[in-house]
Amino acid sequence: MSHFDMLVKLYDLDLDFSFIEEQKKKGIEIRKPIGPEKSFVLEWIEKQFSIFWRNEADIAFNNNPRSIFIAIKDKSIIGFACYDATVLNFFGPTGVSDKCRGLGTGKALLIACMLDMKLKGYAYAVIGAVGPAEFYKKALGAIEIKDSWPGAYNNMIRNSD
Ligand SMILES: CC(C)(COP(=O)(O)OP(=O)(O)OC[C@H]1O[C@@H](n2cnc3c(N)ncnc32)[C@H](O)[C@@H]1OP(=O)(O)O)[C@@H](O)C(=O)NCCC(=O)NCCS
Repeated sequence: MSHFDMLVKLYDLDLDFSFIEEQKKKGIEIRKPIGPEKSFVLEWIEKQFSIFWRNEADIAFNNNPRSIFIAIKDKSIIGFACYDATVLNFFGPTGVSDKCRGLGTGKALLIACMLDMKLKGYAYAVIGAVGPAEFYKKALGAIEIKDSWPGAYNNMIRNSD
């Protein structure tokens, strides 16, 4: 499978947090998780997506300050997004549960991470190993980085044998 990374100009991004209120109107809370939620968040990510994404989210959870956002609806997690997890400056992984897609939650989680990265001091963000390129292009004007696969993922270990 072939992917590519994408580049986002954080310096062009408005500090607009209205997505929090917009999601709230749909009964969805966007926030960073707190410590006691860690195992539940990681288990959900592994069950919905993969052990790889769980491993990356684990790193984002342990960053100080942590670099993971979650979306909650009816007291259950429905989505997550991380940055500084795969390698520094990369956004991802991210995902929204099948049944809750199309509500703007994926974009809200994405913008939450982008604004957090901007405020942390990054000028650019890299979306690692895309994925739905049109989603990132539409939401952020992200552009493809040529010859970026396997890039940072070169020779990645995929099992413990
Ligand atoms: C990609 C993903 C996070 C999007 O989540 P979502 O909550 O359904 O997305 P949103 O509702 O916030 O969509 C925001 C906009 O992007 C568009 N969009 C969503 N998914 C898209 C896709 N795969 N391709 C193109 N456009 C997409 C929506 O139509 C919407 O457009 P609008 O602003 O004009 O209404 C979700 O589909 C997902 O979890 N996919 C599987 C995991 C994955 O691929 N993660 C990314 C790895 S790089």
